[in-house]
Amino acid sequence: MKFDADKMTGYFGEYGGQYIPEILRPAITELEAEFKKAINDKSFLEEFNYVLKNFVGRPTPLLFAENATKALGGAQIYIKLEGLANTGAHKINNAIGQALLAKRMGKTRIIAETGAGQHGLATASACARLGLDCEIFMGEVDIARQRPNVYWMELFGAKVTAVTSGTKTLKDAVNEAFREWTARKSDTHYIIGSALGPCPYPDMVREFQRVIGREVKEQIFAYGNKLPDVLVACVGGGSNSIGFFADFLEEKEVRLIGVEAGGKGDNPGEHAARVAGKGADMGIVQGYKSLFLQDDSGQLTVTHSISAGLDYAGLGPELAYLAEEKRIEFAKAYDDEVLNAVKFFAKHEGIIPALESSHALAEVIKIAPKMAKDKVIVANMSGRGDKDIFITAHALGGDTWVQFLKEEVARYGNE
Ligand SMILES: Cc1ncc(COP(=O)(O)O)c(C=O)c1O
Repeated sequence: MKFDADKMTGYFGEYGGQYIPEILRPAITELEAEFKKAINDKSFLEEFNYVLKNFVGRPTPLLFAENATKALGGAQIYIKLEGLANTGAHKINNAIGQALLAKRMGKTRIIAETGAGQHGLATASACARLGLDCEIFMGEVDIARQRPNVYWMELFGAKVTAVTSGTKTLKDAVNEAFREWTARKSDTHYIIGSALGPCPYPDMVREFQRVIGREVKEQIFAYGNKLPDVLVACVGGGSNSIGFFADFLEEKEVRLIGVEAGGKGDNPGEHAARVAGKGADMGIVQGYKSLFLQDDSGQLTVTHSISAGLDYAGLGPELAYLAEEKRIEFAKAYDDEVLNAVKFFAKHEGIIPALESSHALAEVIKIAPKMAKDKVIVANMSGRGDKDIFITAHALGGDTWVQFLKEEVARYGNE
């Protein structure tokens, strides 16, 4: 469905809204007004599309995964290679859109939160390209597990600030970014990296990510197919999935599957599956009403995922609504299934999917063999897995990788 900014309410059923402290209201009101204008402004859209083409590298390819299709022996599998976008993930689409919007509003400084580091990396890159100052808030735990992305962000000229409160992960980085925005609104715009937060963020992020599904529709037709039978995407906060699904929501014959982090197991604290894990309740957190994994007093609970990008305890409000409406089905993939998917698609297709995206690919491995050979599945590879080498090589490469790291450390020690 085409987005009508004038009818934007910020609500998806009872989810969404704009639950913000009074002090942030002027900044959010300004953002909402500017977004409504920009998304209908031909010159803004031309500039956005120009940057997507010439800097991000769009359109990203849609790969017919012939070898995986043969090996699994069922439905035809296509993979949207969003990880081939500049900086290695879909996050750049939204970062560029919001950075251009910030420039329109006369802002000179950008702040952002990051979990896996991909949104921080995309934001730092967009700021370097567009000449904006940049500060990224990142939990100390995430800094430790995604060190390569911290290095790249700093190379792009961004300041990376370690967040040491709470669980030192994404939710704490979001809190810190809001605190900073509250303190400094006049020259600063806060780029939220997923389809969540107070209105207008969920609508805005979806519109900047909608390009993924729009391209898929054209590309799947160009292969000579009709509409796909199933689309599969991983779901953290929900930006790659909603961008991928948006242009298919009204095609009721297309099944849409969102895959959450099943983590190490089904007990509280072992996963981050809000819908598929059935443990999430309605709450209001970080400016919006949605489903959150929370304790009895409404505090977000500890989560776990092998992928830093899928361990957020909340779900974007539009996805919560579409789950309730049963338009999107939810599944989960356990950490070991995810590692298996990385191995399977690397070996059969020569691609390195991010751990986040490998949740979607793990679901493909489960459902493709049960489907007829004339059916079509499209999975979104939201990111590239180079950033995960310290996790995947340790898990899959075993002793030789550890030995390599020890030798590297010894070599540095001798310098
Ligand atoms: C490659 C990749 N895919 C998916 C996600 C999950 O975010 P979202 O659900 O907003 O797409 C992340 C988050 O960092 C990511 O880095």
